[in-house]
Amino acid sequence: MKKFILGTIITVLLLITVISVQQGLLLAKPLPYDDEQTGLSTQITIHLSHVVAENTPKGQAANKFAELVEEKTAGKVKVHVYANASLFNDENEFRALQKGDVEMIVPTFSKMTTYVPSWQVLDLPYLFHTEEQIHEVLTGTIGEQLLAELEPLRLRVKGLGFWYNGFKHLTSADQPIHTFEDLQGLRIRTMPSRTLEKQFEAVNAKPTSVSFSELFTDLETHTIDAQENTASNIYSKGFYKVQKHMTITQHGILGYAVLINESFWNSLPEKIQKQIIAAMKETTEWQFEQARSMNDQDMQKLMQQDHFNVYTMSKQERLRFKEQLTPVYDFYKTHIQTNDILTEIEKVVTP
Ligand code: SIN
Repeated sequence: MKKFILGTIITVLLLITVISVQQGLLLAKPLPYDDEQTGLSTQITIHLSHVVAENTPKGQAANKFAELVEEKTAGKVKVHVYANASLFNDENEFRALQKGDVEMIVPTFSKMTTYVPSWQVLDLPYLFHTEEQIHEVLTGTIGEQLLAELEPLRLRVKGLGFWYNGFKHLTSADQPIHTFEDLQGLRIRTMPSRTLEKQFEAVNAKPTSVSFSELFTDLETHTIDAQENTASNIYSKGFYKVQKHMTITQHGILGYAVLINESFWNSLPEKIQKQIIAAMKETTEWQFEQARSMNDQDMQKLMQQDHFNVYTMSKQERLRFKEQLTPVYDFYKTHIQTNDILTEIEKVVTP
């Protein structure tokens, strides 16, 4: 009996050993560590959401920023970029940033005027004449002053800087716009900025605020007759497929505030904050040039489209348009202006 019990125990032990070896439970070597695993405890991830295509000035800048942050932090910080409103759109991205559902967003400064009304100064029509002036304002002390305006508002977000896209022009469905009178009665899409609304009211058009991700459909279904945008946005979003006319007006500018969730920012070690700021500065310089060349190239492509006419508004008509838009400045000065930033910008743009 004893022999039988001992034999059974030995057989069971042998079986357990064989199965364990087969399953790799015994004699298993420790798993090799790769970069991802060694970094797991210290890896920082930034999710960056934006609403335009990748092949646009903002899309390219976001990718460049991600590349530079990773390089400057030696891989410790990874930036995941979500383009084309695939994560959040115009309507919900700012709330998502405030709640910390996303760490970074890059809205147009016009869309931010709901929260920072004073940024409407950048929406004033025919304020800037050259891209050098825009660069000086957005990246110099005036840009810093504008970003500082976020602080007292306690929005729980921090501004890292401004990026630029380009001068805005007009596109329209059936009616070409050769003079500002041609805008009369048109349902025209604007971003949500009171100054932009006033701009179109001043020419008796009907401004309507529409999210960028819905604009193509609204133009296609003729819910909206016209819109203002840069060549790169018009080309990359295919607006030329659902509009027949474009008028080069350069009546305004399109640019972006690069925003980060404040508690997330404060949680970062100082060294990482400095590396991110350095990546931001380098991206900004790079992207001004990039934006200029993308808009030039996309304008050429727009000019080559069949069934899409590109017209340049004459100098004389642009002067009349500008003159007609003077009440927009009165509106800004009476209802919005709270500081001397317009005077500061005027010093830069005065020839
Ligand atoms: C963008 O460039 O982010 C969108 C601009 C727009 O809404 O027209």
